[in-house]
Amino acid sequence: LENLNHLIDLNDYPVKTWNQIISLAQLIMKSPGTYKGACTGKIMGTLFYEPSTRTQMSFQSAMLRLGGGIIGFDNPETSSTSKGETLGDTTKTISGYSHLIVMRHYLEGAAKAAALTADCPIINAGDGGHLHPTQTLTDLLTLTEEKSRLSDLNIGICGDLKYGRTVHSLVRAISHYKANRFTFISTPELCMPDYIKAELIERGISFYEVPTLESALPQLDVLYMTRIQRERFDKSDEGKKEYEKQKKIFTLDTKKLKTGKEDLIVMHPLPRVDEIAIEVDDDPRAVYFKQANYGMYVRMALILTLLNHEHSELVTTDDSMAITNDFVSNAQCENLKCITRYEKNLKNRLVKTADGLVCNYCDYCS
Ligand code: NCD
Repeated sequence: LENLNHLIDLNDYPVKTWNQIISLAQLIMKSPGTYKGACTGKIMGTLFYEPSTRTQMSFQSAMLRLGGGIIGFDNPETSSTSKGETLGDTTKTISGYSHLIVMRHYLEGAAKAAALTADCPIINAGDGGHLHPTQTLTDLLTLTEEKSRLSDLNIGICGDLKYGRTVHSLVRAISHYKANRFTFISTPELCMPDYIKAELIERGISFYEVPTLESALPQLDVLYMTRIQRERFDKSDEGKKEYEKQKKIFTLDTKKLKTGKEDLIVMHPLPRVDEIAIEVDDDPRAVYFKQANYGMYVRMALILTLLNHEHSELVTTDDSMAITNDFVSNAQCENLKCITRYEKNLKNRLVKTADGLVCNYCDYCS
């Protein structure tokens, strides 16, 4: 399908487009009444194959505030997926009932695969441990509002950097603004994936990997905490043990926060488990609940952008679905959590790059 504007990966669009969405979200926050009814008669389908509170409900609230309607499921067991329907067929069908689809899936590359059969725009609301572009738009709006800038920031990212899709999307996005540097705070087991680090190295962006929160905290402008992603660990007893070990390693409390700068901000995509003590909520530097609220406005802006071209136009920089001679279509992606392992008819799976073969759906390098 051509000329459909999906949001699968923010990097499919130029930075100018991200800035337009953020500016529109700011306008909506200033005068929400102006946008009431801007999507009257439009229907948004929410297809959630994985648990969600903020992402799903902020999207739903956003659409209702714009005057549109919503349909969808948040438990695939009650949909025809449980009868063995493919993601492609479900998407094709629901796209006939909706003007826009928001999808969260446990497999990496699922939103991109779904976009191939959809007759309406698809928004990736999280695909396994891969990407979460609308959380990143939320984070960019939060930084704009709370730090007044998206550049020259020392950003510490702490916790599960391996499976945390929010931080993968965030790092790839914020590295496109000037003079930002990263401090990755994690255990070696849960460190940032190679494909993200390779991208940073290639583009000359500086980052450090450190094993403790204490050593990094005093220098930071932003501390982005994340939850250890229990659901992505191996289901075996060993996997459970590993999770129990990992979840206690990085915790932020008021004592540690005392060493932080006065204008530091503490972000977290939420939900939190053990990584931020409740006492931290009273510190004015803790902005994570505000961040969740910004998410609704940025999603209003995104819905308007995708559905209503008067407000702004999305222009893709490259056609990432295009078929070129570089594709090795019959090879199998080595990532066991890749959508191509389940939807057998997906084409153009691997692309040759200087670093080796990269999956066109989940970005896994083999
Ligand atoms: C995140 C997610 O689902 O990736 N939540 C969210 O969308 N705000 C973070 C998480 O679950 O840890």
